[in-house]
Amino acid sequence: MPPSAYRTLLSPGRIGALELRNRLVVTAMGANFAEEGGLSGDRLVAYHEAQARGGVGLIISGACGVMFPVGQVQPWQIGISDDVHLEGLARVADAVHRHGARFAVQLHQGGLNAGDDTRAGRPQWCPSIPERTKGDFTSGFLMHELEAFASAGTPTYKVLTKEDIQEVVRAFAAGARRARQAGCDGVEIHGGHGYLPSSFLSPKTNKRTDEYGGSVENRSRFLVEIVRAVREAVGPHFAVWVKLDSREEGRPDGIRLEHAKVTARLVEEAGADAITVTAYHEVSQGKLHSASNIPHEPNWNLPAAAAIKQVVSIPIIASGRVEPGHADAEIRAGRFDFLAMGRKLLADPELPNKLAAGRESEIRPCIYCYTCVSAIYTLEPTRCAVNPELGIESTRPDAPRPRARKRVAVVGGGPGGMEAARRLAQDGHEVVLFERADRLGGTLRFASLAYPANERLLDWLRARVEASDVDVRLATEASPDTLRTFAPDDVVVATGARRSLPDIPGGSLPHVFSGDDLYKLMLGERSGELAEKTSLFTRVATRAGAATGLTANLDFVRRATHAWMPLGRSVAIVGGELVGLELAEFLAERGREVTVVDDVPRLGSGLTLVRRLRLLAELREHGLELVAGAKDIRIEPEGIAFTDRAGSVREVFADHVIVAKGTTGDSSQADALRASGFRVHEIGDGLEIGYIEGAIRGAMEAVDAINAA
Ligand SMILES: Cc1cc2nc3c(=O)[nH]c(=O)nc-3n(C[C@H](O)[C@H](O)[C@H](O)COP(=O)(O)O)c2cc1C
Ligand code: SF4
Repeated sequence: MPPSAYRTLLSPGRIGALELRNRLVVTAMGANFAEEGGLSGDRLVAYHEAQARGGVGLIISGACGVMFPVGQVQPWQIGISDDVHLEGLARVADAVHRHGARFAVQLHQGGLNAGDDTRAGRPQWCPSIPERTKGDFTSGFLMHELEAFASAGTPTYKVLTKEDIQEVVRAFAAGARRARQAGCDGVEIHGGHGYLPSSFLSPKTNKRTDEYGGSVENRSRFLVEIVRAVREAVGPHFAVWVKLDSREEGRPDGIRLEHAKVTARLVEEAGADAITVTAYHEVSQGKLHSASNIPHEPNWNLPAAAAIKQVVSIPIIASGRVEPGHADAEIRAGRFDFLAMGRKLLADPELPNKLAAGRESEIRPCIYCYTCVSAIYTLEPTRCAVNPELGIESTRPDAPRPRARKRVAVVGGGPGGMEAARRLAQDGHEVVLFERADRLGGTLRFASLAYPANERLLDWLRARVEASDVDVRLATEASPDTLRTFAPDDVVVATGARRSLPDIPGGSLPHVFSGDDLYKLMLGERSGELAEKTSLFTRVATRAGAATGLTANLDFVRRATHAWMPLGRSVAIVGGELVGLELAEFLAERGREVTVVDDVPRLGSGLTLVRRLRLLAELREHGLELVAGAKDIRIEPEGIAFTDRAGSVREVFADHVIVAKGTTGDSSQADALRASGFRVHEIGDGLEIGYIEGAIRGAMEAVDAINAA
């Protein structure tokens, strides 16, 4: 799209007295980047500075504790409860201002979601003792995640007296005063996501019988008092706004849009300059962790934003998987005023500059893999699968710069190889990329078929390689002799994992495919083994697809496989890791009855926690049988047999069996090239199974090593 398609989004806007150069906002994201004591240090300064340099109008900090450490949700959360926090926040604000952006602090008290209170043995602050909720949240955890979760302990509660309520109100006001003192440009009061103010707003968690409970006006009283106190503390010219849940998903008796509209009007009257519209999910339900506040479905929260906009006269900040072009149209249509973006800006903080310069195709895409969010759930600093620089911005100025132009051979055109090639070319090296297949992509093509969000990365990497000076040699085996003709200084080996069928009884039966076999069939790739296993019709259809180029078009393959696939009605998949589960969903969506069986105690390794929770829930909704902890798995002519956890021998009929196990690191090519005297840097799944994140990170590290040598 031409830059004019983003003219409105990139036009100046105003929140209260705060003038912004455009309407793109970095939404609040607690990144777990703080230092001991909730201090903002070099890491946070550089992280936010990169966002400001990237061209956004406004940056909102991650949740910042007004009573730090009380009410803390993350171990490395920032605080604003004491003057000791001022210096670091002032450094962030200065760094952001240097690049023409503005910086606001999100004021926060975690209440019933303050996991750190529980971990530290403190009670969680709340309006009333919450009911115990039953859910499936931990059912998708792997064993080590379950152990970490269980070690947090059981929450205890502090039901707030009216004096406590006033203490919290004062803490929010003091936090806002400090934000202004530190040179920040505004504050966002976190009134959503189940945290303390929203636990008062929610009829599910607020069972008080005093003036802070009951009607929506009473439930809003606490938040309204906070807004008034904050406004009084900072005066009329400092921007103050509120983040509000438009609804609570998974809580039929929780906040609804009608409630949110009333609260929105009340906070406007109390002095708020804007409202950020979000939504909450019931924490006990796993799938919802990729819904509502960090939505999986595009534009999920926009109807609520538009509805709230109709009842207030202050600007609305909307968010939630919104494409810039769509946001521009919605803002023009008057449905909201600012777009707060999260994940897309983690993936590429330069997004606003690229939009403005008409370089949209250069924006590194978010693939909605939930690595960033899952890291928060597992109490780690956040990371991005496609942007390995995220969180280490402060150290990157010291990253090795190329000392001389080198000749570098990259072996393997999957995600790691393409990323390495693109980075090397960008650093001025002479690069040849060897790919055995007749097109770039490697296993990322498979991964894109089942999870279309990955295809954006595939397209982006391919386009970046094509736009660079990389010499791409397709259908070329990178033997030592071939490489010698190029005489490289360094060789990057990114040849991926070895996928061999594990030794399962019956594994050589004709109705058994590997996961890779199946993808190859659908994508029209050659395989001698498949020729033996498939019918003449299948082979002709697959070859026709490849010859016409149709199977190169993943969207075509996705649609075509709804009508035809070389598989019977019932399919058993042996292997419940990433590949097996994504394949299971792909097949279930195409009308197959699927059973997934594995001997591991928990399914879904290789998937990030939040994506796993969603996928497992979706598979159950599709009616799939998922069996973990199976023993003595064997394949029979009519299907599979195994012993389940209860010790019963089960037989499951299946027309076809797919074995999606047996992926291991494979250093054989790297070893062979080393033995031939090349200086080899090994990356990606060849080294260890790290999926897209590992491949992209490995590419950065290999290029650093080549530059340093
Ligand atoms: C890593 C991460 C951390 C987040 N932390 C916060 C937070 O501290 N406060 C908050 O209000 N929302 C938080 N969110 C939710 C975002 O503010 C935002 O609502 C959500 O990511 C939707 O926008 P997006 O689709 O553009 O990512 C977080 C989101 C992510 C991805
Ligand atoms: S980690 Fe995944 S979901 Fe998060 S920003 Fe990066 S690509 Fe997007």
